Amino acid sequence: YAAERFIEIVPEVDIPGHAQAAIASYPWLGVSGKRPDVSTDWGVNTWLLKPDARSLKFVDGVMDHVMALFPSKYIHIGGDEAAKDQWKASPEVRAHMQKLGLKNMDQLQGWFTTEVANYLAKHGRTAVGWDEILHGKVPASAVIMSWHEPAGAVEALQQGHDVVMASSPTLYLDHYQSGLHDEPPGRPDVESLKDVYDYDPVPSGATAAEARHILGVQANLWAEYMPTFARVQHAVFPRIAALAEVAWSPASAHGWQGFLDRMPAELGRYKALGIDYADSAFAPAFALTAGADNNIDFAPS
Ligand code: ACM
Repeated sequence: YAAERFIEIVPEVDIPGHAQAAIASYPWLGVSGKRPDVSTDWGVNTWLLKPDARSLKFVDGVMDHVMALFPSKYIHIGGDEAAKDQWKASPEVRAHMQKLGLKNMDQLQGWFTTEVANYLAKHGRTAVGWDEILHGKVPASAVIMSWHEPAGAVEALQQGHDVVMASSPTLYLDHYQSGLHDEPPGRPDVESLKDVYDYDPVPSGATAAEARHILGVQANLWAEYMPTFARVQHAVFPRIAALAEVAWSPASAHGWQGFLDRMPAELGRYKALGIDYADSAFAPAFALTAGADNNIDFAPS
């Protein structure tokens, strides 16, 4: 279905963190063997997959299913926000780390990631990981998805990785896009249409040769603040048009005013398609204050 529409889906299965649901289903995948609840909250949890051969076999099996479902060259294996509390507290995990000759838990995550990346490579696929995987040693062929702006991308480019820019907070479309009173709930601070338009995917300090390793950009649409599809559409449109221009138009063709001039036609298309887009970038903003004479003053803000 996606391929017929010239879309390649890159699936993400996060290891070794963001794994609480997997451990709730198969407690032996975790360090303690205990069964946690399936998390119903957002944020970072400390339920990591146990970095051993049995978990790896399980993950390889998951990857077999994922590869059968998704023909993409790239498979994202996460690696972000793996808080090592449980690993550090486990004598078994510490002993495993020492047996592998590794100095710390980040290197142990690197070992786990590399095993899975090598399994994917054996099947002709390329692993993608969030920039935290740079803290361990991972194959140079792994693609880094950088969200720590700009340090993650700079480090990845210096190490010779291909990089996808998914910078937080500018490309995190769960952020508010205006300070208007009727803006739907979102993550602070505001990342406006103009903020996205002005985003430069080449981090400052990167050389021209390094910049050639930037594969593209990604907008992240974490859905915690979006209980309905209409809210998803509000978060995406029209900021995605700004990002499309950043990604696909030469810098010489960039101009905020020109973009704005083309927006009414684009919004007309959204309307015709029934897309519940945000008009926050064009809405008048004003504040009410009590004047000295106790009359209300209107002040544009
Ligand atoms: C991320 O925002 N945890 C990649």
